Amino acid sequence: MATWRPPERIKYAPICEPWPDAAVAQRSRLFSPVDVGPVRLTSRTWVPAMVPWRASEEGEVTPAVLQWYERFARGRPGVLVVEATGVRDVPSGPLLRIGHDRFVPGLASLVETVRRASGGQTRLFIQIIDFLGIRRRPSREKFLGQHLRIEASHRDHLRLPADAPEALVRERLAALTDDELRQALSPRDWESLQHGFRERVTDLHVPAIRDLPQTLPGIFAAAAQRAAQAGFDGVELHYAHAYTMASFLSARNTRDDGYGGEREARVRLPLEVLAAVRAAVGSRIAVGCRMLAEECIEDGNTVEDAEYFAARLAGAGMDFISLSRGGKFEDAAQPKVGEAAYPYTGRSGYECMPSYYSDARGPFGRNREPATRIRHAIRAAGLVTPTVLAGGVHHFSQAEASLERGEADIIALARAALADPDWFSKVRDGQGGTVRVCKYTNYCEALDQRHREVTCELWDRDALDEPGLMLTKDGKRRLVPP
Ligand SMILES: Cc1cc2nc3c(=O)[nH]c(=O)nc-3n(C[C@H](O)[C@H](O)[C@H](O)COP(=O)(O)O)c2cc1C
Ligand code: SF4
Repeated sequence: MATWRPPERIKYAPICEPWPDAAVAQRSRLFSPVDVGPVRLTSRTWVPAMVPWRASEEGEVTPAVLQWYERFARGRPGVLVVEATGVRDVPSGPLLRIGHDRFVPGLASLVETVRRASGGQTRLFIQIIDFLGIRRRPSREKFLGQHLRIEASHRDHLRLPADAPEALVRERLAALTDDELRQALSPRDWESLQHGFRERVTDLHVPAIRDLPQTLPGIFAAAAQRAAQAGFDGVELHYAHAYTMASFLSARNTRDDGYGGEREARVRLPLEVLAAVRAAVGSRIAVGCRMLAEECIEDGNTVEDAEYFAARLAGAGMDFISLSRGGKFEDAAQPKVGEAAYPYTGRSGYECMPSYYSDARGPFGRNREPATRIRHAIRAAGLVTPTVLAGGVHHFSQAEASLERGEADIIALARAALADPDWFSKVRDGQGGTVRVCKYTNYCEALDQRHREVTCELWDRDALDEPGLMLTKDGKRRLVPP
């Protein structure tokens, strides 16, 4: 699937400045402690959620999942957030799940692994997610022959009598050119043909979607309760990117049942989910969310929306607000027939995970300005809720400057931590010069897009011949982290 890139195609290289010595690093803001609700972090560093595609088909923690998080924990970031983990008990491929009590023992072993590997220095949070259904892009034949629901409008358009048999309608539609077919189909059906069918929070005619405000608070609360039971230090409610809760917050949410339309109504379900989660776990563990500073799509949420939402959510008791940007389905690239759309392939996807080919703004720090405004909005509401900023951070100087300027309270490194999971311990110990610095090639993201086990192209190849090395599910030898 082609991924969107800024047409300017200006090539950027990571920052190449001296790193601090150990004394400077240890006195820095970045390596100073901070409280996140009931949890004290040893530093203001954070590895945000990254799906590595290592769970079992049943959504269970596997030895490869333990190895993945163990490797990050050895670098001792302040917080390590476990990948987006499904709150429902429905099959969803090799993505972690927390929708039933049977997942608790596996997740508890993950907590134990991280605690041991970090010497108790890293707090382990888990991102919990709900997502709606999405189907692969069908072939034209399959769509017109099976998927499309034949309606009176199709017969009218084709000037067929009201009792014309369905098979004839399908046959006539199949004989149309693409331009003609587009006229004959509703915009939604045309989109399902071009991109694959995707459920939306505005599908109020579907009972399960209409009832989300009734069902989701309980589902999230039960998942959070299991996270607490497994020993996690915190849960991160996934209110960002292309998924259900972000779709409720979105300016594109036109539900007319009190959960869409004006901002106040769009934030209602996110607040109700928070209230249910809090009632389930109390203040035993940190409860926060990840949300978008900007949706970066046409008619999507702007930073003003995010300022309002962040202040409301912080006011309702979120222990932290982690800010991402973009990553939506609405502008995703057209998938190939037989593949599903992927929300990081359009312009908004670029905003979420910018690569080294960029525009004049460059790939580093695109979320800084909106994040600063959002933090001010929270402070203006009289709240001290810490915010987490992510996006292109790979050098100590960037992170420290952001903290100094009040852009955020905590700095997240996703791909930079993937490239070198020891980033945190090396920089704190004055060994920043030995960090393997992320080049923002998005090799890792391309693997994620194809649902393949994620690795980094900077990881070691040398050890690939060692006997007993773990193989990927497709039988290949896997690059190994440094
Ligand atoms: C392989 C991969 C998987 C990701 N999975 C998630 C995820 O599960 N949840 C999430 O909120 N963000 C996810 N992200 C986005 C990152 O958390 C982060 O916001 C983004 O990569 C930008 O930060 P960076 O520039 O430090 O990499 C993922 C990113 C990558 C590269
Ligand atoms: S593959 Fe490695 S170097 Fe490339 S963007 Fe991902 S983490 Fe960075």
